[in-house]
Amino acid sequence: MSTTANALTGSSEPTTMTPMADPSPSDVELLHELRESEERLWTMLETAEEGFVTLGPDSRVVSANTAAHTLFGVDYGELMGQPVTRFVPEAHREDLAFLADGDSRSRRNAPWIGRRLEWTLRGTEGNDRFVEVELSRHVTRTGEYVSMILRDVTERIRAERALKASHAELQRALEDLKRAQSALVAQERFAALGELALGVAHEVNNPLQGFKGRLQLMADDLRECLGAEHMVLKDIRLLDEQVDRIARIVQGLLTFARPSTAKRAAADLKQVIATVAELAASPVRAAGLTLDIQTDAALPTVQIDVQQVQQVILNLLQNAIQATPKGGRISARTLAQDGWAVIEVSDTGCGIPATELNKIFEPFYTTKEKGTGLGLALSRSIVIQHGGRLDAESALGKGSTFRVRIPLPEGADRS
Ligand SMILES: Nc1ncnc2c1ncn2[C@@H]1O[C@H](COP(=O)(O)OP(=O)(O)O)[C@@H](O)[C@H]1O
Ligand SMILES: [Mg+2]
Repeated sequence: MSTTANALTGSSEPTTMTPMADPSPSDVELLHELRESEERLWTMLETAEEGFVTLGPDSRVVSANTAAHTLFGVDYGELMGQPVTRFVPEAHREDLAFLADGDSRSRRNAPWIGRRLEWTLRGTEGNDRFVEVELSRHVTRTGEYVSMILRDVTERIRAERALKASHAELQRALEDLKRAQSALVAQERFAALGELALGVAHEVNNPLQGFKGRLQLMADDLRECLGAEHMVLKDIRLLDEQVDRIARIVQGLLTFARPSTAKRAAADLKQVIATVAELAASPVRAAGLTLDIQTDAALPTVQIDVQQVQQVILNLLQNAIQATPKGGRISARTLAQDGWAVIEVSDTGCGIPATELNKIFEPFYTTKEKGTGLGLALSRSIVIQHGGRLDAESALGKGSTFRVRIPLPEGADRS
């Protein structure tokens, strides 16, 4: 009676051992059977897709099938008798640190048993394979063995990655779709609003001009009778300012309703920017700001209504000037990108809260005392009618960038 460890559980249990004797004929038969069964088992391992490696008590390879050799990228037989760590890439060797620790008791409670490792191996074909490695242990009469099952999961990982990539692409497409949809909704709203605006603007404009003329006459008369400093004259000035405000709104509405009369022709955006920069130079200086213009000399011409696009850039510059405190910088640049001619107007101004960023393009949204809230709505409507886009990015307290994109003609440099 002696004590050995149970091969499956690793627990020490008493087993009986019989003394060796000459094999009887029935023993020879048994040996044959055993050999055959072992061969069957080995054939099974050899034809398996998984790599099987067994490490002996000294942590050297005692058996390894063909798949294991292929995964480790070595010729058949090269693994045998070698410490397996020699074939494991540097990055994963730490996973097998427990092998160096000969204390089998620490192995018995070891956390590596049943753990699933993920390795990248350079197989015989020379390309990286993603391999899942499962470790287990078994104790026999001759000592403690470690089994490794290596499963090539490259295809799965690749498929997972491809799935992730296409998911991200889908997400992007969805966002594009959402943007396009909201632009479309805005466009529809503009169209309806445009018709209405035209009617109202015409109705309002004439009496308004009459009203303004009358105010002027009244002011002249009163100045003669009461003197230029009289209170009533101050009130009239206030009224006159309010009339101007209404006139501005009406003017905005009229422009709103008119974009359909666009006259498009091939135009050079650099020229458009230069003209607008000239117009903006004086207000920029008056506000104590600097204006920085960068134009891309290679930008192809685009089909635009120059007047309208000038108006868009002017609106953006005007907003930038109004948003930027003295000493700040405004810049305008052009570039070609992904099939678009891009015009960017940036400022170092107050910025726009993230929650407001979508609202600023809505008609009548304004945070200014004398604003109409029509500048951006009108600008976006013009750009959309050119087949383009107008978007904004902003960091509160740091500044904003407005990006006008106009499609480059087919065949133009789409870098
Ligand atoms: N460059 C900018 N920086 C910060 N806020 C801006 C900028 N441009 C536009 N905005 C915000 O968007 C609003 C709408 O602009 P807009 O349609 O041009 O109308 P308005 O200039 O008459 O207010 C502005 O009132 C302002 O709050
Ligand atoms: Mg404005």
